[in-house]
Amino acid sequence: MSSIKPLVFSGVQPTGNLHLGNYLGALRKFVALQESHECIYCVVDLHSITAQLVHEDLAEQTRSITAAFLASGIDPAKHIVFNQSRVPQHAELAWIFNCVARIGWMNRMTQFKDKAGKDRENASLGLLAYPSLMAADILVYRATHVPVGEDQKQHLELTRDIAAKFNHDFASRIETLGVGEPIQMGEETVNGFFPLTEPLIEGPATRVMSLRDGTKKMSKSDPSDLSRINLTDDGDAIAKKIRKAKTDPEPLPSEMDGLKARPEAANLVGIYAALADLTSEQVIAEFGGQQFSVFKPALADLAVEKLAPVSAEMRRISEDRAYVDQVLRDGGERAGALAEATMKQVREIVGFLAG
Ligand code: TYM
Repeated sequence: MSSIKPLVFSGVQPTGNLHLGNYLGALRKFVALQESHECIYCVVDLHSITAQLVHEDLAEQTRSITAAFLASGIDPAKHIVFNQSRVPQHAELAWIFNCVARIGWMNRMTQFKDKAGKDRENASLGLLAYPSLMAADILVYRATHVPVGEDQKQHLELTRDIAAKFNHDFASRIETLGVGEPIQMGEETVNGFFPLTEPLIEGPATRVMSLRDGTKKMSKSDPSDLSRINLTDDGDAIAKKIRKAKTDPEPLPSEMDGLKARPEAANLVGIYAALADLTSEQVIAEFGGQQFSVFKPALADLAVEKLAPVSAEMRRISEDRAYVDQVLRDGGERAGALAEATMKQVREIVGFLAG
């Protein structure tokens, strides 16, 4: 019997405002998974210093993401909510994974290439090693399922590669120490220590695009605030941004195929579908043939109905700093105990002298 139980882990960086992409691509899925799984949700503050070292408001941003988790409906008593830097085992396992992973694997990461830009030699070593820390976040709990948006898919594939290489390189130590578990690798079952984590990337909003340019991802770093709906926006701001969203002059198509060359229309349909818990097909069945002058107000009403309560709750929770800090302290203690149990075995597997 495997002692690796189904466990969900995911993380969000405390940099900038959370937006509709984060909410639909990640947070809402975090909330839904609580019903069926044990879940660990982490504010990844160690990751946030890889691109920019100094943040005047790192602690405040960490509280704000935590408030967004709680306002969306994550239950910190039943599940675990904490900030990464409280549990040093993440960084410890990341160091070991830095020695498992190859530089070539890191160099191929599109997020690294995008963030490092032209001057790669001048990017921090942390930015290059970022996916190794991400693998450690997940595997220090031997988590089996990771809900994320489409942009994190490549990092999760790398997490599987790191787990597989660790299992392979230490196979005989894992065997001798008797700490292996049956791990499914394609058709084969092997004896390994780390599971091969499954990414959970499903539904109509795995890649929410900018409201100003349907070919660009909605992102915290876009200079135009009109490009995104922030979780802190009030009803008026949400409605205005949808009214001003870029579209084309055609009515909505009656078939899904008609969305193919229309990225802005496809994006708004996907957003509507995700907010209403429908598929894009169902939205097209309802609004096909209608002008944007009809669809946009319907979308604005739906977005305000679904998001305004989250943003109001986020403001309310943010005012109670002591409560937010207590959630993170308590979550950190529980996460730390689980992480230490894994690391005790990892230290033995690697062969460090302890005791
Ligand atoms: P981050 O903080 O950039 O984003 C948090 C989550 O939001 C998703 N997301 C989107 N989904 C749909 N459409 C969008 N436009 C959009 N933009 C962002 C992201 O995919 C993510 O799920 N590296 C991660 C944080 C991380 C992590 C982890 C995640 C660190 N360790 C371990 C999972 C497991 C990141 O920077 O996410």
